[in-house]
Amino acid sequence: MVGRQLSRLLLARGDTVSIMDVAPASRLPADIRDRVSVVRADLSNWAEVTDGVRTTRPDTIYHIGALMPPASEQAHATAYAVNVGGTVNVLEAARLFNVGTVVYSSTTATFPPGLPEDCPNNYAQMPVTMYGVTKVCSERLGEYYHRRYNVDFRAARFLSILGPGRVAGSGWSAYTSLVIEECAKGNPYVLKVSRDLRLRFIYVKDAALSLIRLGDAADSSLTTRCYNLDGFSASTEEIVDAVRRHVPGARISYEFDADYQRVMDTQYGNIQRRMDDRLACRDWGWQASYTLDEAVRDLVETVRQGLT
Ligand SMILES: NC(=O)c1ccc[n+]([C@@H]2O[C@H](COP(=O)([O-])OP(=O)(O)OC[C@H]3O[C@@H](n4cnc5c(N)ncnc54)[C@H](O)[C@@H]3O)[C@@H](O)[C@H]2O)c1
Repeated sequence: MVGRQLSRLLLARGDTVSIMDVAPASRLPADIRDRVSVVRADLSNWAEVTDGVRTTRPDTIYHIGALMPPASEQAHATAYAVNVGGTVNVLEAARLFNVGTVVYSSTTATFPPGLPEDCPNNYAQMPVTMYGVTKVCSERLGEYYHRRYNVDFRAARFLSILGPGRVAGSGWSAYTSLVIEECAKGNPYVLKVSRDLRLRFIYVKDAALSLIRLGDAADSSLTTRCYNLDGFSASTEEIVDAVRRHVPGARISYEFDADYQRVMDTQYGNIQRRMDDRLACRDWGWQASYTLDEAVRDLVETVRQGLT
């Protein structure tokens, strides 16, 4: 999801883009497919990652590949191999081939549930999921490679990302994007969580832009390597209302599932609080631009243009 928007933004400014992914190029949308080179590689495979970096020689690596929940929780050893081992492989390849900058997409799932409002940038990262553990581990590895080998590692921590192209089952919060996308396609959608479940989001175009801005920032302006980012807040009902505004006649129903809700209330307690992102604003001019309504409008428009 993020990779597609990131590729579009990089291509639009004239960059050459190589995508490294375990998935085949055929999964890429038509507007990107013929404009990028694709390297098939498994992040957990040292030789494949190194070979990909050696042959493409990037100036910047946006390290955004990951195994997400619930897959990361069902296959925790694979999650470790892909998310932690993959980060080591990327950092090692960056060190060996003098890649200028490594920009990493981290997550507020590195924080525990029950956060204070305006969660500080340096709040204790004590995640409750394997996913969160692997992401916080990747942050610390990036800082280590920066300290020890001068690899220019930078990370942004995202809330739940709203956007087109969200894969069903990739993140428990995927339903928040899928309800918009499926309704825009004219399909019905069934929600399993309560109407008043409130989460915080960042729209995918803001998320992709933030990675570029962070990568472009002058090194001298950075006061940390890992930055909280904030976005907007929305309840399930507010998302549904926004969908109905932009897709009249949208067919949305609720079939409450207590187990699903429990996961959201416990594992996703860390995307229910505002993030203090003043460091990102001050150091590299970060500012989210999309509100809920603008995000839903843009997502619906993107689906109608066939650009998911
Ligand atoms: N989606 C969210 O709500 C959210 C929130 C916070 C942080 N993030 C982070 O943002 C990044 C991008 O998220 P997304 O929503 O675009 O996820 P996504 O699932 O759409 O994309 C992840 C990509 O990683 C690839 N991948 C998975 N395993 C791989 C492997 N072994 N080798 C190579 N590639 C592999 C997948 O094929 C996929 O293209 C991830 O690092 C994620 O942790 C996402």
